[in-house]
Amino acid sequence: MDKTPGQAFIEKYGREKIPFGMMTVTNNAGGGQPVSMANLKAVSELYRSHGIPFFIDAARYAENCYFIKLREKGFECKPVKEIARELFSYADGMCMSAKKDAIVNMGGLLCMNDESLFANVKNELILREGFPTYGGLAGRDLDAMAVGLYEGLDEAYLS
Ligand SMILES: Cc1ncc(COP(=O)(O)O)c(C=O)c1O
Repeated sequence: MDKTPGQAFIEKYGREKIPFGMMTVTNNAGGGQPVSMANLKAVSELYRSHGIPFFIDAARYAENCYFIKLREKGFECKPVKEIARELFSYADGMCMSAKKDAIVNMGGLLCMNDESLFANVKNELILREGFPTYGGLAGRDLDAMAVGLYEGLDEAYLS
């Protein structure tokens, strides 16, 4: 089988030149179209096979998961929350503008599984925004985000 452009790119530049991969769900560059689970899984496998961390820009992850439920075979009967769990299981980290699917006025998230990467990010954060416990936001805004993350997955709301 022919190599995909992604495979060819990674083989050309390698792990040293590619610190991480990122996929945006839904796909802004493609007019906001959803990414299928099969596509996301294949991309994740490609990055992971080269030892490159794979992150998701998850601003509209709930909408994307709802489209997976509506359109992708095998997901029709799964709750959107379960689909979201599977989606994130293929990633090593994620960032998210919470102003979309966490339905808040301000704020976002940056999460990762790798503890040493997290330690580095935390140190950078102190220089730029403050200690991680500040959350970069008022407690009131963090509270709203915690609620919004649940409400954004509500299937009646999504429909
Ligand atoms: C996919 C995606 N990522 C990031 C952002 C940036 O969000 P913010 O305005 O909260 O910085 C946007 C904004 O629309 C977005 O659509």
